[in-house]
Amino acid sequence: MAEIALRPVAGSDLDAFFVHQQQPDAIHMAAFTPLQPGDRAAFDLRWRRILDGAGTARTVLLDGVVVGHLVCFGDRGAPEVTYWFDQSSWGRGVATAALTLFLDDVDDRPLHARVAAGNEASRRVLERCGFVVVGTDRGYANGRGAVVDETLLVLR
Ligand SMILES: CC(C)(COP(=O)(O)OP(=O)(O)OC[C@H]1O[C@@H](n2cnc3c(N)ncnc32)[C@H](O)[C@@H]1OP(=O)(O)O)[C@@H](O)C(=O)NCCC(=O)NCCS
Repeated sequence: MAEIALRPVAGSDLDAFFVHQQQPDAIHMAAFTPLQPGDRAAFDLRWRRILDGAGTARTVLLDGVVVGHLVCFGDRGAPEVTYWFDQSSWGRGVATAALTLFLDDVDDRPLHARVAAGNEASRRVLERCGFVVVGTDRGYANGRGAVVDETLLVLR
């Protein structure tokens, strides 16, 4: 049985996160991605802000290997969770297990989340962790180069 663990993000984890962020299938799923996922300076700036306190972030380890991350942003009093995992780890329950552990660490409730249309895996992860659908939104998604519908979820 694979062992899934969370720990605070270390600077040395960022190279792996940057690789995960380049994976085309993941970009399509997430949809609402940076305009240029390969822009390392913009990536580092975003992570500097998170690690300086703009969010609560955890690295996800699968059998000791960095396979992803989760972040909770306390945005305008409506904290929101996001996550991203290496494609090699998909379909093994890693995201569901990691989000379950993360929700034990993060006290903010209600906690919000968004899922782009078609990202059924992410929606399933959230619903298995207790999030419920509360609405929809729509916006331009860099990762698909198109306007995309989103499902809004909340954990109370
Ligand atoms: C979305 C993501 C987090 C899922 O990670 P994962 O480790 O594969 O997720 P899990 O294995 O824990 O769970 C996936 C669930 O979705 C289900 N699923 C997968 N693809 C599906 C599909 N096309 N339709 C319906 N359900 C699907 C799986 O069966 C599983 O549910 P189950 O455990 O009840 O069988 C991962 O693919 C990822 O990081 N994608 C890129 C970034 C991203 O989309 N982030 C989220 C932004 S909102």
